[in-house]
Amino acid sequence: MEQSYPGRDPLLQYRAILAPMEGVMSPWFIRTCGRLGLADHWITPFFSVTGGAVPSKRIIRKRLAPYLETGIPITAQVLGKDPLNVVKCAVHLVQTGSVAGINLNFACPSTTVTGNGAGSAMLDRLDLVETIIAEVRKALPETVPLSVKLRSGTRIPAVEDVIKAAVNGGAETIIFHYRTKDEMYFPVENGWERIRKAVSVSEGIPIIGNGDIRSVEDAERMISETGCQGVALARAFLGNPVLLHRINGKQDLRDIDLAEEMRKENAPESTIRAIGRLIRLQSSAETCP
Ligand SMILES: Cc1cc2nc3c(=O)[nH]c(=O)nc-3n(C[C@H](O)[C@H](O)[C@H](O)COP(=O)(O)O)c2cc1C
Repeated sequence: MEQSYPGRDPLLQYRAILAPMEGVMSPWFIRTCGRLGLADHWITPFFSVTGGAVPSKRIIRKRLAPYLETGIPITAQVLGKDPLNVVKCAVHLVQTGSVAGINLNFACPSTTVTGNGAGSAMLDRLDLVETIIAEVRKALPETVPLSVKLRSGTRIPAVEDVIKAAVNGGAETIIFHYRTKDEMYFPVENGWERIRKAVSVSEGIPIIGNGDIRSVEDAERMISETGCQGVALARAFLGNPVLLHRINGKQDLRDIDLAEEMRKENAPESTIRAIGRLIRLQSSAETCP
């Protein structure tokens, strides 16, 4: 399957990008990745506007500071359900002059977020998803690329509807985690089939596939078997921080122990243990796309 739309989003320059991880992307994690050059592009964890308040530019600058210090380009992610607030937050982010793009989160399955009607719960309100994307697109300078992060539905997969809402809203790149909201992080059997479907209905808007990439072979197969333009990965990076570079074709990389490297940045042991728990959780889950 061929992509007719090359895309201008810097996220599309790479076969593999690092997906955002709230709670993991601490200043110690960010500094470690920056010092070792482990990522080519950041997508920040979400700036939430679900509580009604929009983060001020001062707060935004503070949160972006560790990313900026790495010199790695930043796409900032916004999560919310109210178009006005999402627009305001996206505009604040862009006005800091620090971000290379905006990403909208309609994917988070955490009950704290979905209980508020945001994240992947928004996939039950696709008209609103479309409106938010369109309003943000309208408010941003044309030079700022707009991407979205989606799951495949809420209870049952509704890939076509979800992708159409993003395309009609004007998203220029779609990061697509194949699970539904209710599937959280459980194994699903036809995940890649859903990505293939997403590619086939996206009218040439590039799809970045996401979900359980653990090796160079997984990434290559996902791309070739689904037609997605690239992959985003999150959890596997924690146990194998050079995986992105390996997928992106860099050779002769030495293995890196993230915990050891984070200790050099004086990361608290509790932070390192939390990452260790995520690594163990992912490697114990049997997933079969
Ligand atoms: C601890 C943790 C925090 C996450 N935080 C975010 C987030 O802030 N924004 C987002 O879009 N996705 C978030 N995700 C989802 C990941 O970006 C990714 O979509 C998901 O983990 C599936 O990819 P993987 O199988 O490669 O881990 C998070 C995932 C984890 C494990």
